[in-house]
Amino acid sequence: MRPFPLTRRSRLRDLYAHPVGRDVIDKLRLYFGAPEALVRVLGPLPLSWIEAAGRRFAGEGFLQMILDLVNSEPAVPGDPGPLMPAAGAISPTDEDVPWWVDAVFYQVYPRSFADADGNGIGDLRGIIEHLDHLEELGVDCLWLSPVFDSPNRDMGYDVRDYRDVMEEMGTLEDLDELIADCHARGMRIILDLVVNHTSTEHERFQRALADPEGPDADFYHFVRDRDRPGEDTSTPPNNWTSFFSGSAWMRLEEAEAWVLHLFDESQVDLNWDNPEVRAGVARLVGWWLDRGIDGFRMDVINYISKPEDLPHGHPYIGALMDFIGIEHFYYGPRLHEYLAELRRNGFTREDGTVAVMIGETPGIGIEAGRLLSGRGRGELDMIFNFDGLVAPGKVDWHRHRYPVGRLVDFWLEYHRRIDDSDRIALFFENHDNTRMISKIAGTGARDPELRRKLGILLGAVQLTMPGTPFLYQGQELAAINEPFASLEDLRDVESLNKVRALIEDGASEQEAFAEVLPASRDHARTPIRWTEDQEDDGWWLPGHERTPGFSAAAQAEDPESVLSWYRRLIALRRAHPVFARGDAERLYRGRDCVQYVRRGEGEAILVELNWGPRARWCPAVPGRADVLASVGAGEDPQRLEAYSVRITELAELTP
Ligand code: GLC
Repeated sequence: MRPFPLTRRSRLRDLYAHPVGRDVIDKLRLYFGAPEALVRVLGPLPLSWIEAAGRRFAGEGFLQMILDLVNSEPAVPGDPGPLMPAAGAISPTDEDVPWWVDAVFYQVYPRSFADADGNGIGDLRGIIEHLDHLEELGVDCLWLSPVFDSPNRDMGYDVRDYRDVMEEMGTLEDLDELIADCHARGMRIILDLVVNHTSTEHERFQRALADPEGPDADFYHFVRDRDRPGEDTSTPPNNWTSFFSGSAWMRLEEAEAWVLHLFDESQVDLNWDNPEVRAGVARLVGWWLDRGIDGFRMDVINYISKPEDLPHGHPYIGALMDFIGIEHFYYGPRLHEYLAELRRNGFTREDGTVAVMIGETPGIGIEAGRLLSGRGRGELDMIFNFDGLVAPGKVDWHRHRYPVGRLVDFWLEYHRRIDDSDRIALFFENHDNTRMISKIAGTGARDPELRRKLGILLGAVQLTMPGTPFLYQGQELAAINEPFASLEDLRDVESLNKVRALIEDGASEQEAFAEVLPASRDHARTPIRWTEDQEDDGWWLPGHERTPGFSAAAQAEDPESVLSWYRRLIALRRAHPVFARGDAERLYRGRDCVQYVRRGEGEAILVELNWGPRARWCPAVPGRADVLASVGAGEDPQRLEAYSVRITELAELTP
């Protein structure tokens, strides 16, 4: 009997064999820090038994919710093709390898990158003036966080006009010039497509407000009082909560309706079930491709499809994940369909080439990720998977130190689970996450020497793993978190909304500040310090690099700096295509250390890392030839000194 679709009588192992089921279980395992062996042991048990055992915690309806979610995905193991797209495996002999397979991406947060006109806000001319830095670093493609016209409640992730540049950052002509300059240097450039929602100041939403009965309201999720007969319309249509605190619904008194906003009140969700929304987004993408951009990073793109009846979220999932309702839209009913359509109608150019589609997909696990970005599925090219940024059983990172080994293990395991038809986006920082060196070392990160060592190790991990690296600005300078002094220093809407909610709940300002500070997104958004004597007052966000020797200029001069190391590593990647295209195998994992080998393109390269404060023994690996790069590793091939990296060419390899 086929185990799919799943029912209450199905066994845990059937659920685990299903891509979405596996992700759900892995997510729960990550949350509770439970080993995979537990799933194997419990595998033969019927799901109804497990439900009975867990009812005390999870309450009613939990299993049914999981079954509905899992059964909504038709691609199941055993069906020909769907998990393993036939077309397009990336092989070294393939002439058709897409450019982004070999590329190193670099995310610019324009607001905090470089301020050419001195108004305290980074701008496009600032980026143009600092392209040398990026070219010398060796990056292949820039990704700009939003530069579109915006009221900046969420710093550009609330777009008012998708076809214009925000005034404080420059003009469309500046952007054209930046695109042309990148191309002239052999670099590419992608922008940020924020189309799960628009700003409430977007013309379309303003028209919808003015005429809630007209067609514009159907571009958003308006739920009208009159469509809820017998219900208490003074409360929102469902219990979903916003990622930025409070209910996900805003009351529109005059319209006698509620409107959905998964993020801030000023960011209203688009109704993708309306074909005009989809056609509009496709036209928008085409418009930007015609201006010469090479693709988009797509903001929370997995949230675009919501179930028509907008059902309540399960309270247990809500409590675990901190947001109620997420199971209904993180992998919504028509997600695959909408992505494939957008690829065809928006991203495919007239000559048949396709601009790169990189999905920001919070909550998506490895298996569902393959169904979104496997080549041949015709949807996305790569996704950002966030699971590697937290340690198992330690979801709340600021109450523990993040272990470097987690990143290493996660990426190697991820690689093992996908095949050549898929590609990992390798990242550990962006504008929404605090600085990794600080996650690892806490305030210890302020020690310049430790900071430098960790910066070097992290660069080595990211740039020698299989996948496509995405650096975030400042990472190449070993940026760390900012010791903000008080609430007045913060600008991030997520933090500020949370502060408001905490204070409403009775917290003092001090307490609220202490609660949001460790994870505030502002840590990642302080301006780049280009020179040692840079004037740092007057930026839109207070706070900046203060340690002597850590500016870009000082690091460029210093051969031992993190910046110099990143330059070397990127050059090494370019010289040895095995890094971008080859396979990876873990040979040894000891305490605080690892050995893995990259093979392919006629080469084998051994990577050895020790991220701990003590020297470690490691097994002999035959066939060692040239050491391509080494920091602090010493001469003994069976010993790795504290905080060290060694990258060695292998002449021959006995597996
Ligand atoms: C994404 C962005 C984040 C933004 C949110 C809403 O997660 O990276 O900065 O606040 O979407 O657009």
